[in-house]
Amino acid sequence: MEFLDVSREKWREVPAGGDTLGRSYSTDLLKLSDQELLAQWQRMNEAGSVPDHRGWYQVLYREAFAGRRIVEVGSGLGFDGIYFMKNGAKWLFADIVKDNLEAVRRLVELQGLSAQAEYLWIEHPASLEKLEGEFDVVWANGSLHHAPFDIARAEAQILLHRLKAEGRWIELFYSFDRWVRQGKLPFTEWGKVTDGERTPWAEWYDVERIKSRLFPASTTTILDFSFGGGQYGWVDLRVDRPVDDTLSSAEIARLMRTVSALDAPIESIHGAAARQPSGVAFQCSPRIWDYACALDIGDAVRNLGVSSAANRRWAADLEVRLSSGAVGLVLTGDDKNDFLGREITLDARPTAQRLTLTTHGSAAPRWLLIRNAAHETPSTGSVDSAFLRIST
Ligand SMILES: C[S@@+](CC[C@H](N)C(=O)[O-])C[C@H]1O[C@@H](n2cnc3c(N)ncnc32)[C@H](O)[C@@H]1O
Repeated sequence: MEFLDVSREKWREVPAGGDTLGRSYSTDLLKLSDQELLAQWQRMNEAGSVPDHRGWYQVLYREAFAGRRIVEVGSGLGFDGIYFMKNGAKWLFADIVKDNLEAVRRLVELQGLSAQAEYLWIEHPASLEKLEGEFDVVWANGSLHHAPFDIARAEAQILLHRLKAEGRWIELFYSFDRWVRQGKLPFTEWGKVTDGERTPWAEWYDVERIKSRLFPASTTTILDFSFGGGQYGWVDLRVDRPVDDTLSSAEIARLMRTVSALDAPIESIHGAAARQPSGVAFQCSPRIWDYACALDIGDAVRNLGVSSAANRRWAADLEVRLSSGAVGLVLTGDDKNDFLGREITLDARPTAQRLTLTTHGSAAPRWLLIRNAAHETPSTGSVDSAFLRIST
């Protein structure tokens, strides 16, 4: 069976609004009379509209969405679309489950909003090619992380063809930290923990993985934060150029390659660093801002074979464990004082932390520098993975 058929079987059962209300089968909802259906939906909607669930983003986007045309991928029972339509938006509900769309269609009619609504059944990613006209926003609230990356990317790439230049890509997803906390399970298993036994897939995201799903679209990050006790990530991207037809699929694949930089030569500076089976362990000297060590990533840059990556920026995805203190990590040029991008500071934590260092320009990095960022503390930790790539 195709993945989306398995997924469809699960997602006839949609979140019923608030965390306390469990889930409802849209097939069962469709058996209710109009008045019962509307009353049940209103109860669910009220529970989900509390400030720390849907309430905060309803306030944030209400005026901005008025008069705009929005496509929602994975619309469930339509809570967001109906709210924003009541505040002037035009909404296209797209979902892999026909009964979810049928329930939404009835609810939209019952609330007198049909003139602003459209519907699309996603039988497979290519169904999105039926979309017509342009949209101001793609809205994906907890949907695309329930499909393997390649399927979600196939859907995203078609959606991008319908997004206006400088339109927005807004998405809620499950965070890396939640995945770590819940045992780093394979994505086929993790869905059972996040959304119940029948869930075939849940995959963590962060802003960088969303951007790589959209690549070669070029984007500017407007919002990127986690909420709900770190369970959820929220990303709002302005998609400056949704489609780049100048790149062949082979070139796109080449630009999306990653190369491990973990076996790069290490230079200890004012600290100690050593290779160990799981990565590179380091200990800083106690003085704040002393450079502890640096990885020579020159070979990784050459191995990427992207000397033609003119006008593109560089990125390094790292997993770091920090048992004490705080460190700053940054990509530098040949001169270690030449910081090529923003330094990211991490505080000690019991679990692995993920971060992406990027350069501001296209100059190739030479060193991954680690320096102490804590006052009179010999910060200690390890880099457990390091992948270099072109920034998407
Ligand atoms: C957790 S529910 C979220 C529903 C809704 N966005 C909300 O905020 O209540 C996930 C929804 O995404 C849909 N879905 C799952 N996988 C999908 C995919 N690959 N493409 C589009 N929709 C998908 C499901 O049918 C379901 O309606």
